[in-house]
Amino acid sequence: MAQKLVVGNWKLNGSLAANDALLGGCVALVGVDMAVCVPFPYLAQVGSCLTGMALGAQTVSEFQSGAYTGEVSAEMLAEVGCRYVIVGHSERRTLFGENNVTVGRKTVAALRAGLVPIVCVGESLAEREAGQVMEVIGRQLDAVRECIGVQGLSRTVIAYEPVWAIGTGRAASADEAQEVHAGIRRWLAEHGAPAEEIRILYGGSVKADNAEALFAMPDVDGGLIGGASLVARDFMAICQAAMANGGG
Ligand code: 13P
Repeated sequence: MAQKLVVGNWKLNGSLAANDALLGGCVALVGVDMAVCVPFPYLAQVGSCLTGMALGAQTVSEFQSGAYTGEVSAEMLAEVGCRYVIVGHSERRTLFGENNVTVGRKTVAALRAGLVPIVCVGESLAEREAGQVMEVIGRQLDAVRECIGVQGLSRTVIAYEPVWAIGTGRAASADEAQEVHAGIRRWLAEHGAPAEEIRILYGGSVKADNAEALFAMPDVDGGLIGGASLVARDFMAICQAAMANGGG
């Protein structure tokens, strides 16, 4: 596997001044790929001051152009310098009505524009307790595969984000994450995708003090970081942990 990828998901946070201050404390590190996914209005600002880090958005329209008030197309994101876009984040699924079908369509749109979709999958606590983790994730991945095929899958990044770990301070343990990541890689291989080449990120309460253990796992290829990506020192510590465990 290539070096690890650490992506900050700023969610609905930031201001011109706060972004400047945050990015002022971040430097690109050699040996780890870094990116930040920021709110739409700040793409230009952040894009203009990033060096050695990639730019991304947090969602994208399934449509290319037309009468879709409020939507932002993948082509627009590409034009303003995005490399990545998050699709299917659980917050979008639970709060904004996205489902496996719309996530599939958004993934198509991202690939069409040459963006790398970061496809989020993960189970709720109830689903975990019912022993349905891989069943749920398999359904989420299948919906995407049906839209983009195996060829398309090879151009994605997968993010395993257990819903119960997002913003709760209760991250999956390194072993729990590894078990699911290995399951996702198995699923990819079984469906004919180049499983070893597809990065699988872990997201959900990654902090400076648990990043090292998570990134040491053989199937954890990096992280998708929410809250801790808003604090430069924490984000940098997480990126350093990924660098130290690179190539794994
Ligand atoms: P937290 O790191 O704040 O738990 O958020 C994770 C997440 O949702 C990243 O997309």
